[in-house]
Amino acid sequence: MNPWGAVREQYLGFAEHARDSPCFVDWSTRVAADEEVLDWLAGLPPVKQQPNLVFAAARWHGAPAPGAYEGFREVLLGRAATVRETILSRATQTNEAGRMATLTPVLGLIGGEIALVEVGASGGLCLYPDRWDYDWSPYGELRSGGPTLRSVPDGAFPVPQRHPSVRWRAGCDLNPLDVTDADAAAWLANLVWPEQDDRRRQLQVAIEVARAEPPELRRGDLFELLPGLLADAARRGTPVVQHSAVIAYLPPARRAEFAELMRGLVADGACRWISNEAATVLPEVAATAPEPRPGRFVLGLDGQAVAWTHGHGRSFGWIDGR
Ligand SMILES: C[S@@+](CC[C@H](N)C(=O)[O-])C[C@H]1O[C@@H](n2cnc3c(N)ncnc32)[C@H](O)[C@@H]1O
Repeated sequence: MNPWGAVREQYLGFAEHARDSPCFVDWSTRVAADEEVLDWLAGLPPVKQQPNLVFAAARWHGAPAPGAYEGFREVLLGRAATVRETILSRATQTNEAGRMATLTPVLGLIGGEIALVEVGASGGLCLYPDRWDYDWSPYGELRSGGPTLRSVPDGAFPVPQRHPSVRWRAGCDLNPLDVTDADAAAWLANLVWPEQDDRRRQLQVAIEVARAEPPELRRGDLFELLPGLLADAARRGTPVVQHSAVIAYLPPARRAEFAELMRGLVADGACRWISNEAATVLPEVAATAPEPRPGRFVLGLDGQAVAWTHGHGRSFGWIDGR
């Protein structure tokens, strides 16, 4: 039996997934062939062996990135106890404001006065779709003098005519990050992939947007907190539940349970539901698309796929007729 099989596979998979970062492709490919490092990783709880978290912890303690694999390895093994402590005490909570550029067209389809609820909100940076402008050229834009998020559509899509009217916003997370706290903001910046200075700059703007009106974030599991959030939302506008890159963190049985819960809430008229997750995570939503788009998230409204999106919101492809 190969004691590192699962870890090695995970790093080889990440090398495929992280194509936007040559540094992380290099590090993860080299980890997969480095028995001493694999051995070290095998000593972590399985949920903590993930490349994003391990790389972030090594960077937090000085591994230069972009930088050579040897620099990462030196920090990981040379400062093993400190890096391990960071891995155990922190989590990958990447909060990507760029995703709002793909979620906002769906808010446009819903229209009216919205009470926005985000489950798995991290620092809540995606709760401000009304505070940003959008550049979807060459197919459209939405401007009112705010900071701009850009996402490249690969075809026509229903361009919203106005910014969403968000009357109330709140979210929940197992570990809400307080973006007014310098350490939390620094950790969020540290999670951005090495070469992506544009995302780091955008993150700083998103943090300023959120600090101007800090989000209401409740601490706890989404299954427990969603009913209370929905009850509070219903008094303010059309409740809209959104989530992106969250449901993968639930065990498979809980994912199916979540999808069933949301379908029931939508059927009862309790809320609208915007999902933006990897296709394998919510297969019921992905199955409503005419054909798969490997490597992309599936963006859904009320359980129906409406578009395929880049994981960080850089681009999207609308599904004809949706
Ligand atoms: C990768 S982050 C995504 C954050 C944000 N949705 C975005 O798109 O930028 C995933 C977040 O989901 C949270 N999360 C995972 N499982 C959760 C659960 N059962 N209940 C609440 N939050 C959860 C994590 O703590 C983390 O902050």
